[in-house]
Amino acid sequence: MKTTIDIALPKGRLGDKVYAMFAAAGFECPSIHEPGRRLVFENPECGVRYFWVKPSDVAIYVERGAADIGVAGKDILLEYTPNVYELLDLRMGVCRMAVAAPKGFRDNTETTLRVATKFPHIAGTYYAGRCRDIDVIKLNGSIELAPLLGLSDVIVDIVETGTTLLENGLEPLETIVPISARLIANKSSYRFKYQRIEEIRAGLSGQVR
Ligand code: PRP
Repeated sequence: MKTTIDIALPKGRLGDKVYAMFAAAGFECPSIHEPGRRLVFENPECGVRYFWVKPSDVAIYVERGAADIGVAGKDILLEYTPNVYELLDLRMGVCRMAVAAPKGFRDNTETTLRVATKFPHIAGTYYAGRCRDIDVIKLNGSIELAPLLGLSDVIVDIVETGTTLLENGLEPLETIVPISARLIANKSSYRFKYQRIEEIRAGLSGQVR
């Protein structure tokens, strides 16, 4: 009987792709495809139990040991700095964290820069490194609206295709950091379930494109 590994997957489009990667690596769980609203799925033969978690919560489940491993975006790991191991870059959900502003924007360094973002820690660290005074305005979504309505001067947000910026009259100014999905592990699980977690990491590693 295999030791069961509890795996937190990000619910949504990225999660479906990530699960497909686990399945291709030999850790499938056919019941996950059954229609319905269940959130927990187990395959005892493979020794895996999956649960669907809000993407921004995956790192919390893993850090606290409710899940042994999980998949979280690098954006979340940088923002919340959870105490977990980052085991593998899955090269999925590839995008970048960027500063963007209305077309033609010019920074007036005599005033405090108003920055709207879902990622206050990332934004704060970035501007602290440039010794630029900012006023962080924490929002929870539709960040692109903030400069359009005069709520902020610039935004720090995720850019994938760039379409949202373009369609709202904004342009990317600088890339702060590239982002992609990462396999993370709880630190004590990694120690006590090392072989099983390594087996999964190696299997996924063979699937990374
Ligand atoms: C994210 C991000 C941008 C958009 C970027 O938003 O915050 O708004 O995707 O994608 P693009 O460059 O391909 O246009 P999300 O869909 O997560 O929704 P949100 O605005 O509610 O955060």
